[in-house]
Amino acid sequence: MSFLLQPPIPERLNRCQLFGPGSRPELFEKMATSKADVINLDLEDSVAPTSKAEARKNISEAITKIDWGTKTLSVRINGLDTEYWVDDILSLLDNKNERLDCIMIPKAGNSSDVYAVDAFVTALEKKNKRKKEINFEVIIETAAGLENINEIAVSSERLISMSFGVADYAASMGMQTTNIGGTQSGYYTLSEKGDKQLMDPWHQPMVSMIATCRANGLLPVDGPFGDISDKEGYIAQAKRSATLGMAGKWAIHPSQIELANEIFTPSKEALENAHGIIKAMEDAEKEGAGAAVFNGKLIDIASIKQAKVLIDQHDKIFGK
Ligand code: COA
Ligand code: MG
Repeated sequence: MSFLLQPPIPERLNRCQLFGPGSRPELFEKMATSKADVINLDLEDSVAPTSKAEARKNISEAITKIDWGTKTLSVRINGLDTEYWVDDILSLLDNKNERLDCIMIPKAGNSSDVYAVDAFVTALEKKNKRKKEINFEVIIETAAGLENINEIAVSSERLISMSFGVADYAASMGMQTTNIGGTQSGYYTLSEKGDKQLMDPWHQPMVSMIATCRANGLLPVDGPFGDISDKEGYIAQAKRSATLGMAGKWAIHPSQIELANEIFTPSKEALENAHGIIKAMEDAEKEGAGAAVFNGKLIDIASIKQAKVLIDQHDKIFGK
């Protein structure tokens, strides 16, 4: 480890973030009773321009009237290039209701975007003598967002997570894709026999975002998977993300919640394996060895850290 220690990520559960349009209030109660850890009510791209005002009203009412239990409650505001975001924040924070936990800032392009929202939110918190500090989530979903990701990561003390947004990112990058997430038919290699092998076009930006989050104590979250009829596609994408270090994934339909929860909860076998590694390394250390063989494979001091990641994830979900 460098002299600069890696900060821990926030303690909140974040296996699944469930989205719902602010213009569909009939979904809110169902979202509140779902098994998602985080709820994101949307004022941005799932709400038509003509419905923004109505959606704000629906969301402000729902924040107070609905019992959100212990879930993290977040609202996605409109981007800073729109005429909507100021009214979005006013509708959420120019009052004394303290249930809201987070504001999600979409299309964050640089640290100034977050700075502007921070200044506005800080003024409203002071004006209304709000005791609870609102946290921020950002979406990395533009070329600029990825280019400036390191300055965004340290732009505000309020920031706790970054999500990777595939659809806007693809548009910003000029990618020839139309699906929201998952593999894309044009992105493949050929095997020696000439069979097409689909590759993952999101791999590089996702790994960049995860590294930035982990280096700065933020939760890295995989964004939406649009084809709600493709269960296997969602599972494959979520497993890739979990393997790479994402803390969780969005759900844009209730059918995706259980899938995310299962994939971002360490399995019984993975947990047993992790405890086995720790025990084998403890035995090795007693004999003065820094490496050992466990289930036929080399393990060493780094394996203890890998095992502890899984054990910590388990403890966060189920308690110690
Ligand atoms: N949260 C909670 N419940 C939801 C839901 C959501 N996001 N979306 C649908 N449901 C409910 C429906 O009300 C329905 O409930 P019922 O069985 O009690 O009638 C059930 O789940 C099945 O819904 P279905 O008919 O399959 O979906 P739909 O056609 O009503 O809506 C979508 C499909 C994709 C339009 C809708 O799920 C949606 O708007 N998702 C979120 C989109 C979003 O927020 N995007 C922004 C981030 S990318
Ligand atoms: Mg987007």
